[in-house]
Amino acid sequence: MKILVTGGCGYIGSHTVVKLLEEKFEVVIIDNLVNSKREVLEKIKKITGSDVTFYQEDLCNLDALKNIFKKEKFDAVIHFAGLKAVGESVQIPLKYYQNNLISTMNLLSCMQEYGVKKLVFSSSATVYGNPKSLPIKEDFPLQTTNPYGTTKLMIEQILKDVYQANPDLDITILRYFNPIGAHKSGLLGEDPNGIPNNLMPYVVRVAMGTLPVLSIFGSDYNTIDGTGVRDYIHVLDLAKGHLLALKNPKSGLKIYNLGTGKGTSVLELVNMFEKVNQVKVNKKFTARRDGDIDACYASNEKAMKELGFKCEYTLEDMCKDSYNYAKNNINL
Ligand code: NAD
Ligand code: UFG
Repeated sequence: MKILVTGGCGYIGSHTVVKLLEEKFEVVIIDNLVNSKREVLEKIKKITGSDVTFYQEDLCNLDALKNIFKKEKFDAVIHFAGLKAVGESVQIPLKYYQNNLISTMNLLSCMQEYGVKKLVFSSSATVYGNPKSLPIKEDFPLQTTNPYGTTKLMIEQILKDVYQANPDLDITILRYFNPIGAHKSGLLGEDPNGIPNNLMPYVVRVAMGTLPVLSIFGSDYNTIDGTGVRDYIHVLDLAKGHLLALKNPKSGLKIYNLGTGKGTSVLELVNMFEKVNQVKVNKKFTARRDGDIDACYASNEKAMKELGFKCEYTLEDMCKDSYNYAKNNINL
């Protein structure tokens, strides 16, 4: 089976490509490298011993995309490509609407033109906004608080409309919670440009001494210790979720949360990181970050029941693997 992986050089995409190759799928990556590096391809080869076909191309270029579809004859598409920085999306919303929406619409029209029926799409827990209760189930109301989140919600709506008009399509929307961790080899991981916005890449840099101190945003949330609670999931478990979605015999339009179902506070995560890595993380409490919510974690019952999804890795593994990747990467 030949799979197109858009954004396959990125953080989640690269781990999923490894899993696909390990299961003998044929993989073609399209990535414009706007937030990733070409070296990822060599690392994937080093881990799996297998080659992928790579096109450095922008999905917003419809003609180029059509040519690739015509040549490659895909059986399915996993669509990771997109811009994902929440703060930047508030500053430059048009960049996010243009990139994330046009790339997806181009992809859908190529799938239609070349008869590709199966799609797995990367959505996000951000589409739930501030949930009315926890754990969050797939049928909870949807609302967004920033342009990045709105692109995900709009794409979900586009997929629903396109499916309604073409019921022979097979579409899976995966709503990820907070992916962290890295490949066990230390070769693949998360490597954001500039100063990170997300917790784990920030913690890693403070532990390594490239940033002086972690600001813990808020100590008065309605949570176990006053700090924000999230559902951190190992990127390898998340990657496995995509394979299960590809192999799912149930057709139609399906939506699944991918999370562990367990909430962890900022302090719990930092304490675990310090303990398993035997390293100190300088920290201070600061004001809440705008737009943050108290707590967010998934009900993963639907994914467990329908996909056979089960998380293998613990918070301890996530902390160890994130740090191991950082220590192996001189760029950090
Ligand atoms: P990432 O930035 O590491 O990977 C995305 C990849 O897409 C990058 O390699 C980038 O170069 C590529 N890309 C972006 N726009 C493109 C375009 N127009 N044409 C071709 N390539 C393009 O991000 P990630 O963390 O691996 O996230 C993958 C997907 O999952 C994204 O859609 C993201 O919004 C979604 N998601 C991520 C998280 C998270 O916390 N990491 C959470 C929920 C959802
Ligand atoms: N936090 C800090 N200090 C930091 C960074 C984060 O205390 O320097 C706290 C936040 O306040 C929050 C928690 O750590 O309580 C997690 O924050 P992240 O920025 O790592 O993750 P978010 O839950 O805010 O958001 C991420 C992505 C979103 C995505 C969401 C759910 O950035 O795009 O996960 O998938 F929608």
